[in-house]
Amino acid sequence: MNRKIKILSVSGGIRPTSSNALLVKEIQKWAPENVEISIYQGLATLPAFDDGPASETVNDWIRQLTEADGVLICSPEYAFGVPGALKNAIEWTVRSGELVNKPLALITAASSGDKAHAAWLQIFSAISSDIPPGGALLIPFIKTKFNEKGEVSDVAIKEAILKTVQALIQCIEQKASAADE
Ligand SMILES: Cc1cc2nc3c(=O)[nH]c(=O)nc-3n(C[C@H](O)[C@H](O)[C@H](O)COP(=O)(O)O)c2cc1C
Repeated sequence: MNRKIKILSVSGGIRPTSSNALLVKEIQKWAPENVEISIYQGLATLPAFDDGPASETVNDWIRQLTEADGVLICSPEYAFGVPGALKNAIEWTVRSGELVNKPLALITAASSGDKAHAAWLQIFSAISSDIPPGGALLIPFIKTKFNEKGEVSDVAIKEAILKTVQALIQCIEQKASAADE
């Protein structure tokens, strides 16, 4: 690719103290030279999916997805399932298909998170997103992985996150070179 790879990252947690919001900020800082990671900021303002005409807010979400080469989802588990705000955002894409064949990495970071992780894998498989091998990571006990400055202090977890992001980048590069042939 003769330009920077664009990754759109989305935190499924919109609480001011969300560990997943912290995580996407950390991952943004770790981006390699040839990769630009932006953070989607509109989750809290997206209207509930209603099958009506898309508002400007919805169009902006769709536009940011379309312009991205790949998507990185960092999601908590709430009430034994996927968080509603992020699920709603994904529902807006089902009709228009922006996530179909889209390179996507999934990090589920929660107290345990196994139920949300399994549910997200099923959802992204159903809508045919392209999660590459190594592109999905479950991080339990997420709150214990940060230091007081909000940095990921667990070395093994940082390494696992970097590998997951690298799997996404590789998937994007492979798609781009296949398209060039
Ligand atoms: C309303 C609420 C419900 C939660 N339910 C679960 C749950 O079912 N399973 C789990 O592993 N963690 C659960 N948690 C803990 C979150 O996973 C934890 O807050 C973690 O830091 C990730 O969420 P965050 O990005 O909002 O910080 C819940 C947290 C909140 C605020």
